[in-house]
Amino acid sequence: MSKNITIALSKGRIFKETLPLLEAAGITPKDDPEKSRKLILDTNQDDVKLVIIRATDVPTYVQYGAADIGVAGKDVLMEHGGDGLYELVDLHIAKCKLMTAGMVDYKPHGGRLRVATKFVNVARQYFAEQGQQVEVIKLYGSMELGPIVGLSDLIVDVVDTGNTLKANGLKPMDHIADVSSRLIVNKASLKVKHDRIQQMVEQMKKAVNK
Ligand code: ATP
Ligand code: PRP
Repeated sequence: MSKNITIALSKGRIFKETLPLLEAAGITPKDDPEKSRKLILDTNQDDVKLVIIRATDVPTYVQYGAADIGVAGKDVLMEHGGDGLYELVDLHIAKCKLMTAGMVDYKPHGGRLRVATKFVNVARQYFAEQGQQVEVIKLYGSMELGPIVGLSDLIVDVVDTGNTLKANGLKPMDHIADVSSRLIVNKASLKVKHDRIQQMVEQMKKAVNK
């Protein structure tokens, strides 16, 4: 295992909100992922690289050690399951909630409910805990459309302001979990590169605004 450190981040809100925390650990990317087509970004520190990937892929890269460290939403981590990684710090960024939602006039029809979501494992577990049999339909985005077009009765998605639900005639229903992004670390990397990773983690931890 090389002694370099690879950090997995997704573009958009996680990258933007993680930047000040990286700065606190003395790490400044040399490119802006919103402008560059590069997938691997150099930083001011020769031994630290950033890989820019889809939010849902971050735990996978860290699990397999393709990245030593990553930043991922709790929603994505719950869906992934957390194998092969440690969740070390709650970064208190990208805060939202995992919820069920349905049309504003939603009424259960007594049959087996259909639930559309990209969080299929979370949804299965949640409804099983409620003792409710559901059919879970995997989608990759725009879940709000599910109940509008009759694909599903309910959805499971992240909600922040509730504006997206409202704009589509849906209402938030059951709260499944509070979500914020977490600093995750590959288990083997933490052993092999302990001092370097621990130093970064401590510096980022100090910069977290709770
Ligand atoms: P992918 O590209 O893998 O489909 P995504 O489009 O959901 O993922 P982002 O929109 O960047 O990726 O969201 C990254 C994380 O930010 C989510 O996993 C969630 O934890 C959080 N998040 C998502 N939507 C919001 C929101 N509206 N407000 C605050 N945090 C959010
Ligand atoms: C996320 C999520 C919801 C929306 C919720 O979408 O998929 O649709 O935010 O936020 P709200 O409750 O404040 O409306 P996002 O804006 O990240 O778009 P994307 O998932 O398509 O990237």
